Amino acid sequence: MTNLRKTIAVLPGDGIGPEVTHAAIQLLQDCASAFGHHFEFREFPFGGNAIDLRGTPLPQDTLAGCRSADAILLGAIGGPKWEALPLGTRPEAGLLGIRKELGLYINLRPIRLRPALRGISPLRPERLVDCDFEIVRELAGDIYFGAHELHLEGNNPRARDIAEYTAAEVERVARYSFERAAARKGHLTSVDKANVLATSTLWRETVIGLAREYPGVTLDHLYVDNAAMQILLRPAQFDVILTGNLFGDILSDEAAALAGSIGLIPSMSRGCKDQPALYEPIHGSAPTLAGKDVACPLGAILSATLMLRESFGLETESQWIESAIDRVLEKGFRTADIADPGGRVVRGSEFTAQIRSELQASSAQGVRRGSVA
Ligand code: IPM
Ligand code: MG
Repeated sequence: MTNLRKTIAVLPGDGIGPEVTHAAIQLLQDCASAFGHHFEFREFPFGGNAIDLRGTPLPQDTLAGCRSADAILLGAIGGPKWEALPLGTRPEAGLLGIRKELGLYINLRPIRLRPALRGISPLRPERLVDCDFEIVRELAGDIYFGAHELHLEGNNPRARDIAEYTAAEVERVARYSFERAAARKGHLTSVDKANVLATSTLWRETVIGLAREYPGVTLDHLYVDNAAMQILLRPAQFDVILTGNLFGDILSDEAAALAGSIGLIPSMSRGCKDQPALYEPIHGSAPTLAGKDVACPLGAILSATLMLRESFGLETESQWIESAIDRVLEKGFRTADIADPGGRVVRGSEFTAQIRSELQASSAQGVRRGSVA
């Protein structure tokens, strides 16, 4: 195993973003020292804070810093302070901008329930047996990136958003999903609204056209309304779910609720394999929690372990951190959002400190480079 040198662009963002990215960086640093890697962190303004500092949510040097990094770690963006701004100038425009500029067309959201947290899911435990799936959301097209028109003037205010896909856009994300499914349980569910939408008809035709290239993968299709229901009724039937940008936004929040809290789910946004991928928790900036040290850092920390695995090929390191997280949860430590009723609640920083001391303990026992099979 070689020692790696990697540069990570950090965009802490707004609200709880800085707290949770700080936690993730601490664990990445612990990982680097335990395994002999070198991670350099470069921080850039992004989102609302960049609007305040530079007048734009995605400044040029932030974009340049992301392009030249090996991976990007993002906290969360947005908040009431910037909500009155016109749509295209808000913090969210920075997020859509970076996705577009870096060509991040794949968004992977793993829905994995941590064993110790089964009890906090809103679903009955028997429905959660074997529930472990991934949502692959197309991230660079659809109604998000078509023209948006808003006419509030006059006595007939109206608005229009255009949804568009090309077959090539569908194909590239579908290929990734087939490959992902082939490496897992071999089951791909494509979600669309082909009974109503033209974009969905193109989507379905394109996905079906690719299926013969992946004989090891069983492909099925669900309409999005049914998919929303199936995720609650029988979540264990899914392996990889492939869907468009808007449906993926909605279904991934729904699926995150199964895990017990949206604060637990990480994501990867990626373009071509040789370009930097962006990792972020799927939760928002939670402005009302900011600065109170109550936010759960797990979404950001699991985004960091996803980075180790997917961008740097460091599976052992990634598991080293994730098993420490599971031990801390087993011991009963919880942030407020994942607490059992009447259970023990610690601050976000205390929760991170507990994971770090688990890591120290496991390093001391020699679970590190050279002694892991
Ligand atoms: C997400 C978020 C974003 C999206 C918002 C903040 C623009 O909800 O990453 O899921 O809609 O893609
Ligand atoms: Mg969302």
